[in-house]
Amino acid sequence: MEINDDLLEINPNLKSQVAYVGKGKHKAVLVDNFYKDLEKILQVIAKLPYTDHYDLTGNFPGRRAQINISTEPVINAISQLWGSQLYSFFQPQLAVFQALTTMDYRLNIGQRAPHIDPDITALIYLNPEQSSTGGTALYRHRPTDLERLPRLPITPDQEVWQLAERLELSNEFFQTEEGYENFQRSMIFNPLFAAKGNNYINDGNEFWELLQLVEMKPNRLAIFDARVFHSQYIKEDLYDKVFRMNQIIYLTAEQNTMRTGSSLA
Ligand SMILES: [Fe+2]
Repeated sequence: MEINDDLLEINPNLKSQVAYVGKGKHKAVLVDNFYKDLEKILQVIAKLPYTDHYDLTGNFPGRRAQINISTEPVINAISQLWGSQLYSFFQPQLAVFQALTTMDYRLNIGQRAPHIDPDITALIYLNPEQSSTGGTALYRHRPTDLERLPRLPITPDQEVWQLAERLELSNEFFQTEEGYENFQRSMIFNPLFAAKGNNYINDGNEFWELLQLVEMKPNRLAIFDARVFHSQYIKEDLYDKVFRMNQIIYLTAEQNTMRTGSSLA
């Protein structure tokens, strides 16, 4: 099938709603009937070569494929719906699709806990109605009471700085990307906090409180502050016969540096 630039044409009759999640009232925009021709997109993406290579897939618990069409019109439409201009986090931003199955799957620790993305994430759910269950869930980290991890630089007025002070941790953790990574790994994404067994974190556990489930619907776009802890919400007996299909776009509010690759969960 020939792939044209109009494949990702936006539906002029979309419906959008805004939600504010958690104590921090973190913004999430849900848009229904986002694309004009979901059927055509499904036909095209069913034939793509999906890979689990880390460069494209990162710690995402499935496979990804990309097509070389411009996502600029889509990102501009997403920006309008979000309420401010957004830019792709990775350059170039091709159209990246992801396929996930629970057939013969084995989740690692990072996949059994919520995670964060670079800044703002747009996810478009593509499954038809009969295979749309669960979605994407947002969480609070119970031991620290954090719902969100800001990007560096961290300043003394921020909750995470105050947390470090309370725990008598050196603020050297916030001086470098590496230090901040170490802080996150030990305090927030500690392996002890992950879901047990071979399960997604779903309804949460004693360390992670489910704040809100963004329900997956055919042709629904979810745009959310991806510094808020989040995860796929997938019950184990689902998606063993049919793939869970999304388009993923990593965005940022800052127009600045070029980053190559696209390997985030
Ligand atoms: Fe994510």
